[in-house]
Amino acid sequence: MDAMASAAPLIRIREAAAYDGQVVRLQGWVQNRTDKGRLQFIQLRDGTGVLQSVAFQKDLPEADFAAAGQLTQESAVRVEGLLRADARAPGGFELGLSRLEVVSLAESGYPIQPKEHGTGFLMEQRHLWIRSPRQAAILRIRATIIKAIRDWLDSNDFVGVDTPILTPAACEGTTTLFATDYFGETAYLSQSGQLYNEATIAALGRTYCFGPTFRAEKSKTRRHLTEFWMVEPEMAFARLEDVMAVEEAFVSAIVQTVLARHGQELSSLLERDLSRLEAVRPPFPRLSYDEAVTLLREGDFPDFPWGEDFGAPHETYLAERFERPVFVYHYPSAAKAFYMAEVDGRPELSRSVDLLAPEGYGEIIGGGERSTDLELLKRRLTEHGLRQEDYEWYLDLRRYGAVPHAGFGLGIERTVAWICGLGHVRETTAFPRLLEKMYP
Ligand code: 4AD
Ligand code: MG
Repeated sequence: MDAMASAAPLIRIREAAAYDGQVVRLQGWVQNRTDKGRLQFIQLRDGTGVLQSVAFQKDLPEADFAAAGQLTQESAVRVEGLLRADARAPGGFELGLSRLEVVSLAESGYPIQPKEHGTGFLMEQRHLWIRSPRQAAILRIRATIIKAIRDWLDSNDFVGVDTPILTPAACEGTTTLFATDYFGETAYLSQSGQLYNEATIAALGRTYCFGPTFRAEKSKTRRHLTEFWMVEPEMAFARLEDVMAVEEAFVSAIVQTVLARHGQELSSLLERDLSRLEAVRPPFPRLSYDEAVTLLREGDFPDFPWGEDFGAPHETYLAERFERPVFVYHYPSAAKAFYMAEVDGRPELSRSVDLLAPEGYGEIIGGGERSTDLELLKRRLTEHGLRQEDYEWYLDLRRYGAVPHAGFGLGIERTVAWICGLGHVRETTAFPRLLEKMYP
């Protein structure tokens, strides 16, 4: 049968309800087939949903029915049939086939079978694993999160400005740089677009960059990737408190948008406790670093030394005290990057703030107020082992019209992991880059 000449409308599975009782055409992949002799039950997947279709011998041309009986998992087909509501069918609709065309018959032995597989194996098969309904749902939710982020920022006066990936400068310390040869000079893959945002706000007031960032993280954890996406808003004439107000409105809007659009997938495919997400509304609790240390010492970490950065267990312990994401602000200056502003009268503290997600997901945002003090920044560059000549352009921003300014970076993968309730960031992106993992 060629290209199935037919007057029936070509639809997507998502639209099924609008075509109840009509003959329609669909194209997709065979997720599963059950052979009952003169009846073949075929689960069809088309990227928008899954639909049960039934080939009954008497309803199809002989060749079409014979082809149906040969279908292997992941074969691609075009079909035509009568769509009807059927409460017994998963998804509530069933397609009674009248025609079936094989676009491509998959080899037998598809590696991923409807049974439990180990994660190591599934990661090797990531190019195929993403076809499973749960993985596809995560990718759809990730796309919604990214759109919600852009929508919120675009409608709150932030101008999207792309920042370079190849840079001469380190933003977040020299230990996690990926270096590459740039015609005889060393270039680094961007760890953050923040320093460039600090330039663009002087042109546009409020800006954000959104793109891939790179860190040669030697840590093999559930929340570290070597390549991850980050959105980084930056605001002129803004202080630490302004950043917290923006962050809580921003994060709440993202979560509520995902809930409104994907509540069904979150609860059925990802078994997410929706009440935990519904609780994500402003205001978020605020803890100073000093208060956080006191909480840790009164609790599970009596010996926690003042001045250290928090690790995953500390963040989990702190976040568990609250229903909503929690801000921790005024971290020790020594634990933070060179550009941080100091707290008035307490130079050992920085005007920094991290946002810790509930349920053990840890830090999803890092940010704060930037120093406008030229001499302090020069001293810090030296202390951090950075060459001033690489940062002259950045220091110019303090020489020409410096204003109090602040911003933050939200990690997309950690946000997806938290919202979807995933145990590991490896499932938050189609092809994760992890320590010792660059395939497929
Ligand atoms: O706290 P970080 O390092 O902050 C910055 O890069 C600032 N320059 C951002 C800014 O103020 N414009 O990183 C920000 C966020 C973290 O909270 C985390 O969500 C994510 O980026 N992140 C990672 N996500 C996955 N894998 C990694 N290796 C990550 N490192 C940071
Ligand atoms: Mg951080």
